Amino acid sequence: MIDTHVHLDDPAFDEDREEVIQRIQDQKMDFVVNIGSDLPSSIRGVDLARDYDFIYAAIGVHPHEAKTYGPEVEEKLRALAQEKKVVALGEIGLDYFYDYSPREVQREVFQKQLDLAHDLGLPIVIHSREATKETFDIIAAHLDKYPEDKINIHCFSGSVEVMEAYVKMGCFIALGGTVTFKNAKVPKEVAKKVPLDHLLLETDCPYLTPEPKRGKRNEPVNVFLVADYIANLRGMSLDELLKVTDQNARHFYGIKA
Ligand code: NI
Repeated sequence: MIDTHVHLDDPAFDEDREEVIQRIQDQKMDFVVNIGSDLPSSIRGVDLARDYDFIYAAIGVHPHEAKTYGPEVEEKLRALAQEKKVVALGEIGLDYFYDYSPREVQREVFQKQLDLAHDLGLPIVIHSREATKETFDIIAAHLDKYPEDKINIHCFSGSVEVMEAYVKMGCFIALGGTVTFKNAKVPKEVAKKVPLDHLLLETDCPYLTPEPKRGKRNEPVNVFLVADYIANLRGMSLDELLKVTDQNARHFYGIKA
């Protein structure tokens, strides 16, 4: 079992991080990938990856923090990327729901980091909220630079049609707790219809806790709840689902068994 998207560096885990990480081990999970939100969080993620075999790191600047991006940050990301256990660039993209950074800045920083990922030869973890069309268009415009299976649309929240268009481009669709929410009709449809060989599972912890734990802080072991829910939706066993999604995760991040 693999959680492809965690934020273990988040202050929400400051009180009991070691216990949360211990539970990953107790559940015999294969590995988790800690995703960067800005430079400091990327550095903390790399530190965690140094401390624990089963933690890998993605580094990058989230659209919320796009205003903090500049040549110095980019240089530091380049240096961090030399670490062995840095397996992706992310999360990067556009967030027009919160608009914490000006949209122009978000677009520019997104494209700069796409170029950076290309330079570094790293796969990309995408965050997109209320910016479906622009995110899609920017990715499509950069696609010639990437092996087609090196883009992951994290916490995918679009329609079945948009999912299909991404899959056609070769992207992975990552699904988490939102699929389990009672009123989430479209995510459930997406979870049923996404081709299995393009599906990744994630928690995005500490956020987006799946049912029936919704309302509490999320943590990596809850990816089991997501997997179980999606297996049920698709009428398959948990083992059958995990066999493929774990293989997808290893393939995407380039982590061998
Ligand atoms: Ni995230």
